[in-house]
Amino acid sequence: MSKTQFFDSLKNEIARIDEAAISKRFEHLIEDFNQDEAPKAIIEGREISIFNSNDYLGLRHHNTLKEAEHKASSKLGTGPGAVRFISGSFAIHRQLEKKLAAFHGRDDAMVFSSAFATNLAVIFSLIKGQNKDSLVNGNTLVISDELNHRSIIDGVRLANLESEAKLIFKHLDSNSLAEVLSSNSGKFDRVVIITDGVFSMLGEYQDLKTLRSVIDQYDNKYKEGVLLIVDDCHGVAAFGATGRGTEEVSGAKADVLVGTLGKGFGADGGYVVADQVIIDYLRESAATYIYSNSISPGTAAAAGASLDVIDSEEGKKMLEKLANNVVNLKTQLKDKGFKFAADSIHPIQAVLIGDTTKTRDLTKQMYERGFLVTNINYPVVPKGRDEIRVQLCASHTKEDIADFVQAFSEIAKSLEII
Ligand SMILES: Cc1ncc(COP(=O)(O)O)c(C=O)c1O
Repeated sequence: MSKTQFFDSLKNEIARIDEAAISKRFEHLIEDFNQDEAPKAIIEGREISIFNSNDYLGLRHHNTLKEAEHKASSKLGTGPGAVRFISGSFAIHRQLEKKLAAFHGRDDAMVFSSAFATNLAVIFSLIKGQNKDSLVNGNTLVISDELNHRSIIDGVRLANLESEAKLIFKHLDSNSLAEVLSSNSGKFDRVVIITDGVFSMLGEYQDLKTLRSVIDQYDNKYKEGVLLIVDDCHGVAAFGATGRGTEEVSGAKADVLVGTLGKGFGADGGYVVADQVIIDYLRESAATYIYSNSISPGTAAAAGASLDVIDSEEGKKMLEKLANNVVNLKTQLKDKGFKFAADSIHPIQAVLIGDTTKTRDLTKQMYERGFLVTNINYPVVPKGRDEIRVQLCASHTKEDIADFVQAFSEIAKSLEII
């Protein structure tokens, strides 16, 4: 049978995406890095300053990580060879899990191929209540922040809950969460609240302390209590004086914490840390852990080395420099007359532009001037909320930031943005 019609509908969908100017497949290819000044990459033969990377501490270029990775892959091979429970579990995976658990002050950890895969499995496994495949029995209400990351949304979707068992609370609004908890008490045995720690679009963070005080009020209103899952992929190894992320900044802990090794830690992969019983249960139930490869031994070694660097004096200095870079950039941009889409103290700074064409032009001209930033346009954000997302790194120097601000404000002036 001809697949012409099928392919035509795919073409139409691609055309619709291109027309809305939200295509993602035209990627900048990094050919090399200027090794002496790591946030500077070579793209199309030109040196480009990267102001949109999640490598917040610049650790992916750190020699300690590279050496650990080379040593492990020379000895153990370049891939895991099988999934964990077959023959793909290396001592280095367990060492990393123990280090991650200690880093976050938890009983145990589990490493996955990515944080996306972690969220899919962790959320699905912990909320799947009524399904006969589930190891958990019970009747669960899931409550999500309305702006949660796609991997959380998909994790909830997988569980295929009835619509009344998956509710949202208003973004960063603990009163809204309290209302949802109050109006549903007595209707469910248990509640799972899921939120991003740091939100990747605007750099704001969920105040876990306030959330905790709401949870404490409602915990005994549900037979099996209220569990808090936090995905802090942009918080860990980037935020807080010791890089413990949103938990450190807001002074309260999640019951289940998901992180990535592929952003601030400068390696790759995802992980979850929690009480032993949760980790033991997840090792029996998390499909993307049981049926999908883990990270390679080299990557596990790099991630382990990254944790050591972060906990050293050098790591503390990197985190301090990153925090200073944030203040420095914000102050300079404010002085030039820019506004921000959110009041963020995180290395993600969303500069409010408010006009779709101007946002695109500014990003394009910044690239021509040698700077990479991300434009976030309508329809991804509401009309009038178009923004440019700038991400800082500890390796950015004062000069890098000054050069960035100069180019950014000159172009913005020419486009009549400021
Ligand atoms: C909040 C959040 N969760 C999860 C992920 C996925 O991380 P990973 O690249 O490790 O799959 C991201 C990455 O964009 C993220 O921002």
